[in-house]
Amino acid sequence: MREFVYFSQSARTSGNFDANKLMEAGRMDIAIHSFIQGVFLSHGFRKDAKFHFIFYGQPDPPKHIEIQVTDELEISKKDVGNLIRKILYKYKKGKKEEVLPGCFIEKKSFLNVIEELAEEGKEIFVLDKHGEDIRKAEIPEDCVFVLGDHEGLPKKELKRLKEIATKVSVGNKIYFASQTVAVVNNELDYRGI
Ligand SMILES: C[S@@+](CC[C@H](N)C(=O)[O-])C[C@H]1O[C@@H](n2cnc3c(N)ncnc32)[C@H](O)[C@@H]1O
Repeated sequence: MREFVYFSQSARTSGNFDANKLMEAGRMDIAIHSFIQGVFLSHGFRKDAKFHFIFYGQPDPPKHIEIQVTDELEISKKDVGNLIRKILYKYKKGKKEEVLPGCFIEKKSFLNVIEELAEEGKEIFVLDKHGEDIRKAEIPEDCVFVLGDHEGLPKKELKRLKEIATKVSVGNKIYFASQTVAVVNNELDYRGI
């Protein structure tokens, strides 16, 4: 299973935002573009991919949303904004809950999510322009790629991440978050991972 963890310091943590004004919801547009590149294919979706959102925006940070698209989930590439709104609205204090098929939400910090994935035996990679060339990196089947929004990843947490993760680069330019997800998926597809 390949997994992506998308971090945003500003994305809204309640469903009360306008799905037609995603840029005003803490750049929810970037989160959605990244998700689309993460799990959708031209004629379907990736069964081998899981996508995590970590939102630190107002009014109730932090929120961890996990989505693995299945046949049971009603989802359209054109309406991911409303799916995220629904998931946020269904959040209940205290526990990680499956609020829609394959969609979970809980209150959990960025580091705790990553540490938990590492404890489950998954190898953690941080997407970073200055990391090791992804084409040369050894990547196991159970892999997690961490990326940030337009503001990047939080500095303090990055220090701790360095101890448990490997930085990988997808090229010598700074790409959109969503572009890096597409490149990672393509690299893993080529390798048959
Ligand atoms: C638009 S970039 C963030 C730019 C932000 N100003 C910064 O310096 O981190 C969004 C995310 O894409 C990933 N990224 C961008 N370019 C990359 C590259 N060449 N290799 C690997 N990851 C990259 C990083 O994870 C980054 O947090």
